Amino acid sequence: MYIILIPLLLFLITTGFSTRHTGEGQALYDHHCARCHGADGTRGMFGAKNLQKSLLPDTAIALQIRNGKRIMPPFKKKLTPDQIDELSAYIKTLRKPAI
Ligand code: HEC
Repeated sequence: MYIILIPLLLFLITTGFSTRHTGEGQALYDHHCARCHGADGTRGMFGAKNLQKSLLPDTAIALQIRNGKRIMPPFKKKLTPDQIDELSAYIKTLRKPAI
């Protein structure tokens, strides 16, 4: 039994780590955020801020995703804290120059 479980566990752990901050953040972003912010962060639909120019620190990004701001809807019921972390990490990769 353990002989089957251990490789399975290792597989789950390694694939979990390898998708962190890349694949999942981007998929979440494309699904929840790109309609306003655009795939590269610059679309500006409904007055959405340009994420390439955003200077917000992690805590403020997480707060804004959780609670929303004016037209931007709150995501705390749709996203887990882990997913919000993935998203913060991903949107910072859109910044130019990357910070
Ligand atoms: C309905 C459109 C809409 C969606 C969907 C949306 N946003 Fe926004 N977002 C906005 C608007 C509008 C603002 C500007 C809010 C303000 O300050 O008035 C904004 C601002 C932001 C800011 C602040 C940038 C700064 O420097 O002040 C961040 C970060 C952000 N959005 C991230 C996200 C993320 C991540 C998602 C997906 C989970 C998302 N947004 C989904 C409309 C949207």
